[in-house]
Amino acid sequence: MVFGKKAATVGLDIGSSHIKMVEIQKTGKGFSLSNYGMVPLLPEAIVEGEIMDRTLVIDTIKNLFETRKIKSNEVVSSVSGRGVIVKRITMDKLKEQEARERIKWEAEQHVPFDISDVTLDFQILNPDLGNNQMEVLLVAAKNETVNAQLDLLSGAGLNPVAMDYGAFAVQNAYEANYDVPAEEIVALVHIGADSTNINFVKAGVPYFTRDLPIAGNACLQLIQKNLGISYDQASELIRGEAVSDVSSDSSASVFNSFAEDFASSIERTLSFLAMSGGGERMSRVVMSGGGALIPSLHDHLKERFGIPVEIANPLQKITYDPGLFGSSGTDKLAPILMLAVGLGLREVK
Ligand SMILES: Nc1ncnc2c1ncn2[C@@H]1O[C@H](COP(=O)(O)OP(=O)(O)OP(=O)(O)O)[C@@H](O)[C@H]1O
Ligand SMILES: [Mg+2]
Repeated sequence: MVFGKKAATVGLDIGSSHIKMVEIQKTGKGFSLSNYGMVPLLPEAIVEGEIMDRTLVIDTIKNLFETRKIKSNEVVSSVSGRGVIVKRITMDKLKEQEARERIKWEAEQHVPFDISDVTLDFQILNPDLGNNQMEVLLVAAKNETVNAQLDLLSGAGLNPVAMDYGAFAVQNAYEANYDVPAEEIVALVHIGADSTNINFVKAGVPYFTRDLPIAGNACLQLIQKNLGISYDQASELIRGEAVSDVSSDSSASVFNSFAEDFASSIERTLSFLAMSGGGERMSRVVMSGGGALIPSLHDHLKERFGIPVEIANPLQKITYDPGLFGSSGTDKLAPILMLAVGLGLREVK
């Protein structure tokens, strides 16, 4: 048995508004967070998932690793958005190795991308559906999307030891911190700046996942438009700070209006959920990402859907030195670190 400090895993979440990093160590009793960092990225650097200013993103990552004194250059990172497709499919019952050879042909029928331009992965969910069929979770990522991410990492001098799908990292963080109900469908709603990913999970299996274009930026735009204030003022308001000449009534009304639009977007995905298998119903919502902190969103979703809604704390079962976070604590930070924590928890060694 080897005693002493074990190697840590660094999870890196390159978001369009903030780059987040966590360093997680496996201890005898579980996991421990040894370092973290978060830096804002200028809004023009990554737009709608596209990297517009590669140098700026690379410099921001390098800066983050330098200021947080991260020694290791090995990271676990992720891809998400339109370049990745996840689907549960039914195919002929095969052994893992045979399925691996066949998956490309199966994927052709299910993936709207040119199969020669994608990286495929799969997991057998149910090896025996009857009729000589099995159920498989298919993941297809456009090579272009994966390569753009690899290019950023190598530009920043980092070595990706694993590349995950963002929604799976969120799910990983959730499962590591919560007792997962066996029968319920939990909606993991990860709300970023540019987009929201909703992943309906049942007993650890992603049932159905979708990206919605409504998130923090849409809220900021609505605030600016409805209240006639600047982007900076809207950013203050969204963080719950008072802005001169904006009454609490008018800010409450704009947050209410955003929450209504957001809830309606989620509602529309529910019909796909119902179609995707035997009339399944969402029974719990777990929110994460910076957008989970948007005022009144949590309360509104709870009221609209009449089910438990919570804001995730991915550090719930992870030990850390509270001094790491200073006096501000983790309440407004932990949900933003959700995806990065899910990546940092991957055991790659
Ligand atoms: N304390 C807060 N209160 C309310 N909203 C917040 C708070 N902190 C961040 N946000 C909002 O959350 C969004 C950023 O969240 P996050 O860092 O998860 O996004 P991202 O990962 O950069 O974006 P994306 O995943 O879409 O590329 C911003 O739009 C911001 O306005
Ligand atoms: Mg994000």
